[in-house]
Amino acid sequence: MARTYVITGSASGIGAATAEVLRARGERVIGIDLRGADVEADLSTAEGRAAAAAAATELAGGVVDAVIACAGIAAPIAKTMAINYFGVTELLTALLPALRASQAPRAAVVSSMASLQPVVPALVEAALSGDEAATLAIGDSLAAQGPEVGYANYSSSKRALSRWVRRASISSDWAGSGIPLNAVAPGTVTTPMTKDLLATPEGAAMVDAAVPMPLNYHQPATSIAYLLAWLTSAENTHMAGQTIYCDGGADASLRGDDVWSWNDPAPRA
Ligand code: NAI
Repeated sequence: MARTYVITGSASGIGAATAEVLRARGERVIGIDLRGADVEADLSTAEGRAAAAAAATELAGGVVDAVIACAGIAAPIAKTMAINYFGVTELLTALLPALRASQAPRAAVVSSMASLQPVVPALVEAALSGDEAATLAIGDSLAAQGPEVGYANYSSSKRALSRWVRRASISSDWAGSGIPLNAVAPGTVTTPMTKDLLATPEGAAMVDAAVPMPLNYHQPATSIAYLLAWLTSAENTHMAGQTIYCDGGADASLRGDDVWSWNDPAPRA
C-alpha cells in the first residue's frame, strides 16, 4: 500500500527530486513550500509552521507515514536559523501525532557539510534550548557584522539541527514512539541554491576548497533523494540520530580516518 510522505522544500532542488522519486515509486507526497506546493506556508514563522502541520495532517487524513524536511536557505542572516532549525524541529514536532498514527513512521532532515564548519556556540545553544527570540537576536548581531561573520547563521543552523537529531532521536517522543529520526549531510549539490556560486570558476574553486569531493564530484539532487527515500522507508528499523554524510568523500577528506579515538583511554606510560 502507498505510504504518505510530507516533504518540505518540495518545489525545488533536493525536496523536488525526493518528491519525484517517491511519486514514481507510487507513494503519496504532500509537498510544503512557500509556493508551488500542496501546502503553501512560510516555515520561518511559528504561525506558518503550525498552519503547515495542520494543513498537511488534514490532507493526509490524520496519518503521515514519513516526514522529510528539506526546506532551507543559506543566506548569512538570522532568518536562516529560523527556517533551517526551527522550521524543521517545530514542524516535525507538530507532525508527531500524525506520525504516531502510522504503522511504520519515519523522519529525516537535511543537514549539511556546514555542520562540520566553525559555529558560534552561543547561537547553537540558544537554538537547542528552543529560545527562538534569543537565537534570532544573536543571529542578527552576527549578520550586522557582514556576510563572513553572518555565515555562522548557516553553519550553526546545521550543527544545531544535527545535534537536535541526535538528542531527539533517542527520546520518548521519537525512539519511544518507534520513529527512526536521522539526517543527511550532502556535499555540493547542483540545485538552484548553488547555481550562482558554481557559475564562475572562482566560486566553484572556493566551494571545492571547503567541500572536496574526490568521488564523482558535484552531486545531483537525486543522490540525496534516494538516501532520504531509504531512511524514511519501512526498511529502516534501527538507524537513529545519525547524520549520514553523502558527500563524494568530503567528510572522509576533511576529518580523516580517525573519528573514533575521542573516547580512548589515555595511553599508559
Ligand atoms: P533549493 O533552494 O533548491 O530549495 C529549497 C526550497 O526550500 C525552495 O523550494 C524554497 O522555496 C524552500 N523554502 C525556503 N524558505 C522557505 C520557507 N520560509 N518556508 C517554506 N519553504 C521554504 O535548495 P536545495 O539545494 O534543494 O536545498 C535543500 C536543503 O539542502 C537545504 O536545507 C540546504 O541547506 C541543504 N543543502 C544543500 C546543499 C547544496 O549544495 N545545494 C548542500 C548541503 C545542504
